[in-house]
Amino acid sequence: MGRGYLVTGTDTGVGKTVITAALVGVWRSRGIDAVAIKPVQSGAIAENGRLIPEDAAFYRQVAGLPQTIDELNLYRFTPAVSPHLAAKLSGERIEPSRVVDFCREVLQRHELVLVEGAGGLCVPLSGPDFTVADMARELSLPLLVVARPGLGTINHTVLTVAYARNAGLTVAGIIINGLKPEESGPAEKDNPGVIAAMTGVPVLGIVPYLPGVSVEKGIADGLVDTVEKQVAWQHLVPGEV
Ligand SMILES: Nc1ncnc2c1ncn2[C@@H]1O[C@H](COP(=O)(O)OP(=O)(O)OP(=O)(O)O)[C@@H](O)[C@H]1O
Ligand SMILES: [Mg+2]
Repeated sequence: MGRGYLVTGTDTGVGKTVITAALVGVWRSRGIDAVAIKPVQSGAIAENGRLIPEDAAFYRQVAGLPQTIDELNLYRFTPAVSPHLAAKLSGERIEPSRVVDFCREVLQRHELVLVEGAGGLCVPLSGPDFTVADMARELSLPLLVVARPGLGTINHTVLTVAYARNAGLTVAGIIINGLKPEESGPAEKDNPGVIAAMTGVPVLGIVPYLPGVSVEKGIADGLVDTVEKQVAWQHLVPGEV
């Protein structure tokens, strides 16, 4: 079985998909058999009578994954709400065992796997008894936490790491995403060091805001190259330092 991480965030929309797709793109360009999966997607887009899980579509495009969408995503729902509610509104139910089996099978077949959660750690997948944190624990996956650069992020990130540890999870690293140079003031400069000191978790990189990147539009200009330079991706590769 290869190595895997669960990619979570301090909130929804912090850039989990952008970072996930880019890391897998970097690893694959280095000859590593890496893949990213999104077991449960809400807010899927209806296109020609099919539901497209946009996060998995973005990984395929950015990282050049050969897998089909169905190999990268198990459940998809149209409502853009928490998965437990999106499933309910769609007249379906998320089976935790199916989610776990789906991820395990991918983890067994590849060298390095990123599993993207939904929203943050406390988000219910099937309901309060099976959250993103529960999924990570069932799969014994360490976490990779994506956080915002600015005001509020110390609190959100430290709380996320504390909740993770309380739930018996380990946190392998934190990546700060979406830094706009014009907004880089004293807080943005100070936050990475304070977060690392307060959590004891390494901040693996700070990724700038890239105007040519959009998950919705399926564009990723300069993304993989930037993440290759700005993130200590080697830290997450088995056998590398
Ligand atoms: N570094 C960046 N530069 C420019 N745009 C970005 C960057 N990171 C994220 N975005 C944009 O911000 C939005 C949210 O990013 P993303 O979809 O990766 O978040 P997420 O945490 O995966 O959200 P969800 O919880 O819905 O899965 C997207 O429109 C994405 O294109
Ligand atoms: Mg996402």
